[in-house]
Amino acid sequence: MYFQQFYLACLSHASYMLGSEGVACVVDPQRDVGIYLDEARAHGLKVEHIIETHLHADFVSGHRELAERTGAKIYLGALAGATFPHIPVRDCDEIRFGRVILRFLETPGHTVESVSIAVTDLDRGDKPFAVLTGDTLFIGDVGRPDLAPNLTPQDLAGMLFDSLHNKLLPLGDDVEVYPAHGAGSLCGKQMRPERQSTIGKERALNYALRPRTKEEFVRLLTADLPERPSYFALDAELNRAGVPAVAELPPLKLLDAGEFAALQQAAAIVLDTRPTREFCAGHIPGAVHIALSGQYASWAATLLGLDHDILLIAEDQETLEESRLRLARVGIERVTGALRDGMAGWAAAQRPMAQIGHVSAEELAKLRDEVQILDVRRQAEWDEGHIDGASLVPLHQLSSRLGEFDPSRPVAVHCKGGYRSAIACSLVQRAGFEQVMNLTGGFDAWRACGLPEVSTGVQSSN
Ligand SMILES: [Fe+2]
Repeated sequence: MYFQQFYLACLSHASYMLGSEGVACVVDPQRDVGIYLDEARAHGLKVEHIIETHLHADFVSGHRELAERTGAKIYLGALAGATFPHIPVRDCDEIRFGRVILRFLETPGHTVESVSIAVTDLDRGDKPFAVLTGDTLFIGDVGRPDLAPNLTPQDLAGMLFDSLHNKLLPLGDDVEVYPAHGAGSLCGKQMRPERQSTIGKERALNYALRPRTKEEFVRLLTADLPERPSYFALDAELNRAGVPAVAELPPLKLLDAGEFAALQQAAAIVLDTRPTREFCAGHIPGAVHIALSGQYASWAATLLGLDHDILLIAEDQETLEESRLRLARVGIERVTGALRDGMAGWAAAQRPMAQIGHVSAEELAKLRDEVQILDVRRQAEWDEGHIDGASLVPLHQLSSRLGEFDPSRPVAVHCKGGYRSAIACSLVQRAGFEQVMNLTGGFDAWRACGLPEVSTGVQSSN
């Protein structure tokens, strides 16, 4: 049989295509579905089946577009309440094509409708050789149990325990595991970087599968849950209805500097996706900076929501299209336009520019008493070590907590390596703080210089 994983690094998302004797099934497709159509064509396959392991909350799926372009049927757990034409599936339902049998296992826990898919290749044997686990079982972790609107995390964690122990572990240690997400995804918290595993390996290495009672498991899974971005509920609803094809999004309008400034004045958000160095050297006053290089779309959806008009700034036409596509993948569709000729067009029109300064770790150590140091990492990173006198405000909380700082005093911002702090610098400056600087290299650089740090409860100097 044909079996292929497609890994979309910017969303830490894995989708799959399985094929046999001219027929293919796609599992958890990303929003832009051309890759599956190209791959199917290259292997002489026709996509006849599409499976969603659950209603994804962290990205918008391409199941509806793929179904419209291929005529394939969509399968989804019966409890999803999906409103597009689909086949609701229950435990032990099967899809058979060529030499392949796909057997559904209801595995609620991450969400109530979650299913896993046991894959049998009759050319290899009559037992499943692999299981596609969606967000039920990850490599090194399990799905977070706090995303269902009508159930408590405790209820869901209890279901997850049963799903893992009664449905997935009994498949056998040799069975290969293919999840829907990898390290970096907001759907789990401590995934390993591998892209595939086995039940046996997870039984040995996955902290959530160590022997413990159901009560202990529920307590473990519901303690220290990561933040839940507000767009998660919106994306799950978009997936319940199915979104229109990417090609149906309105064409990206190129605007001159005057039109662009007028729309910004009328409350559209300027989103500058260029590399941080370029953004800091000169940008449109009030612009939000999220570099295309990192978890760009997740941060854009987390910090800006889905319902604002967005004006894009990018390095060139290619990155402009990429910037916009990545926004569409998380459900941000209101991209009103982009600046013709990018920042060169803005400079040629002699429009005002803003800058953001930077500071090295050694310089910051000397300036410590004169600046407000803002650490935008997560609590766990802070607990492990931070700069004495800094304030912790995780990036997702920043906009609502800027009132805690004095806009008339300089602010130095840092994260681990510089990606999140660059975003934060733009938000701080946009809020009216005049002297904003980014710590070059972040806390990693501070630590590499051997500068003093504090860890929660323990004072140390190194
Ligand atoms: Fe999920």
